[in-house]
Amino acid sequence: MDFSSVKGKVVIVTGATRGIGEATAKIYGEHGMKVVCAARSEAQGEAVAKSIVENGGEAIFVKADCGKKEDIKSLIAKTLETFGRLDGIVNNAGIGMGGIPLHEYEDEDYDKIFDINSKGVFIGMKYAAEAILKSHSEGGFIINVASVAGIMAQRGQALYTATKHGIVGMTKSAALDYAPYNITVNAICPGYTQTSIFGDAPDAALDMFAKDCPAGRMGNPNECAYLALFLASGMARYITGAAIPVDGALSAGHQNVSTWRHPEIVTGASLGSNSTIAALVENEASRAIVEKYLPGFSSNAQLKQAYGMTLKQIAPMFGLPEGTLNEMLNELDNM
Ligand SMILES: NC(=O)c1ccc[n+]([C@@H]2O[C@H](COP(=O)([O-])OP(=O)(O)OC[C@H]3O[C@@H](n4cnc5c(N)ncnc54)[C@H](O)[C@@H]3O)[C@@H](O)[C@H]2O)c1
Repeated sequence: MDFSSVKGKVVIVTGATRGIGEATAKIYGEHGMKVVCAARSEAQGEAVAKSIVENGGEAIFVKADCGKKEDIKSLIAKTLETFGRLDGIVNNAGIGMGGIPLHEYEDEDYDKIFDINSKGVFIGMKYAAEAILKSHSEGGFIINVASVAGIMAQRGQALYTATKHGIVGMTKSAALDYAPYNITVNAICPGYTQTSIFGDAPDAALDMFAKDCPAGRMGNPNECAYLALFLASGMARYITGAAIPVDGALSAGHQNVSTWRHPEIVTGASLGSNSTIAALVENEASRAIVEKYLPGFSSNAQLKQAYGMTLKQIAPMFGLPEGTLNEMLNELDNM
């Protein structure tokens, strides 16, 4: 892929001190973009900007509470003053909250989370869009970091889910506003991603998130950052109004029970008593052995439901004496 089209573009990344924001700012810097790192912590923000510069990139830090209109206005002003233009913004700053049923939230929680996750994204989009339009950017882009909770609800996350659904809605509506002006507007929807948003969550909790994900692991912030790079590039000019998951299939659907009929394509195991019924029935030699001990086995229509199970698991249901059962299993193992 050729990312040279992003070189020289001026971009603001909010919440650039940690996690997905930091990863995005650094990857943008590595690819020659002029990066404005916006965050509240001066020490951490300066450190991210400094590491981009030390790596040969261009970056400044601007202190901003991204939930406050005045801070966003001066962030844009400082960007224009330093780089003379704006091509894109990544509205990434946000907080997590939840793990409790809706009635257990405090009234104040609503404003706390909406101020940054929702209003922060709105004002970031509003003032950045004006500046991008005035800059006559030839490849303008707005990227909002939403969440899988912007696509599907998560239990215990009523307020977070509401803010993230709102971001996806704003993204789509604004994409319609700016499509005629060559500004793309998209949302990145991370799944469980290993960042400080999980605070001091114990390893057991992180393990649970990893297991909940079909991919069996948590994401890495760079995996979102690479999508942010692609969306900022000339290769993605026809992608707009999209909410794109980066989530190891977490939002693709519910994980139902499913068993593989042919696990040997990944395990490489050879045919034997530990093979699935499907594999044994499809092979002429093993089918003959099973039929010898259990006549009619391979044509039993009801058994089709259990084709992902092994013969070892299911054979005891047929009431064979233990000796005969072992004889059959041995014969299969020595085929
Ligand atoms: N990590 C995940 O699993 C996950 C999943 C889905 C969505 N997200 C979203 O990704 C975004 C980034 O989160 P992260 O996981 O990197 O978390 P993080 O806590 O590591 O980083 C969040 C960043 O936002 C900044 N921030 C928060 N409030 C701010 C404010 N008022 N003003 C300026 N900066 C502020 C923080 O200082 C920090 O730099 C958030 O919007 C979050 O909701 C994260």
